[in-house]
Amino acid sequence: MSDPRSLKDRIVVVTGAGQGIGRAYAHAVAGDGGTAVIAEINEERAAAVAAEAFALDVSSEESCRQFADAVGSRFGRVDGLVNNAAIFSTITMKPFSEITVREWDTLMSVNLRGPWMLTTALLPLLRAGHDASIVNIASDAVWLGRPGYLHYVASKGGVAGMTFALSHELGADGIRINTVSPGPTYTEVDRETVSPEQHTAMLARQSLARDAHPDDMVGPVVFLLS
Ligand SMILES: NC(=O)c1ccc[n+]([C@@H]2O[C@H](COP(=O)([O-])OP(=O)(O)OC[C@H]3O[C@@H](n4cnc5c(N)ncnc54)[C@H](O)[C@@H]3O)[C@@H](O)[C@H]2O)c1
Repeated sequence: MSDPRSLKDRIVVVTGAGQGIGRAYAHAVAGDGGTAVIAEINEERAAAVAAEAFALDVSSEESCRQFADAVGSRFGRVDGLVNNAAIFSTITMKPFSEITVREWDTLMSVNLRGPWMLTTALLPLLRAGHDASIVNIASDAVWLGRPGYLHYVASKGGVAGMTFALSHELGADGIRINTVSPGPTYTEVDRETVSPEQHTAMLARQSLARDAHPDDMVGPVVFLLS
């Protein structure tokens, strides 16, 4: 009997998988025998991760539709979707009163509207999938109320709430949906969101006082996709 926890032969879309934690999710899917479909705004980085790489801007309805058409033509179904793409490592930390409306709207269009729009575009393919499963990536910044990037925290709070509500709407189709909320996770990408002082303070508040790495995240995500 095949292992029900294996991703063997499953078609899994991972957004924002050109770098960082998304790339680790994609490698884990492929390593477990699945097909990782990379959906990324940076085409060059996407192509370097896996053969099945597609250009996608999750903030664009047209791009989501074109991506769904391309994946439908190539595979005919989707068994897993990881809504991982976000504006994150490029954020400049600042007080909430200094965030501009343009910054707020741009971030929301990717981090919150994106997962909704892509899930909508892929719905027929998810319905055609085998025991399809969606994993939305939120953040522990929501539950800790981390200061310095209010638009980001609000977007990830929205992702968590959206996941609960969507679970009821998708349940009738037998499609599962869950949220994973990573803590501070260090990847190959330098970022401005954590100063050395904040890093030390965050470690002191953690139960395991060590940096988290992408490998810490892949186990739960692979399990939920299986
Ligand atoms: N690293 C952490 O500490 C941490 C903590 C909590 C949550 N998260 C979340 O985990 C996920 C991955 O984090 P990361 O550290 O790898 O982030 P990252 O910023 O390194 O990577 C984000 C990826 O998303 C892509 N992307 C950005 N806009 C896009 C768009 N419009 N359409 C398609 N792709 C787009 C980028 O090109 C990039 O490849 C994000 O959702 C992030 O919010 C990260």
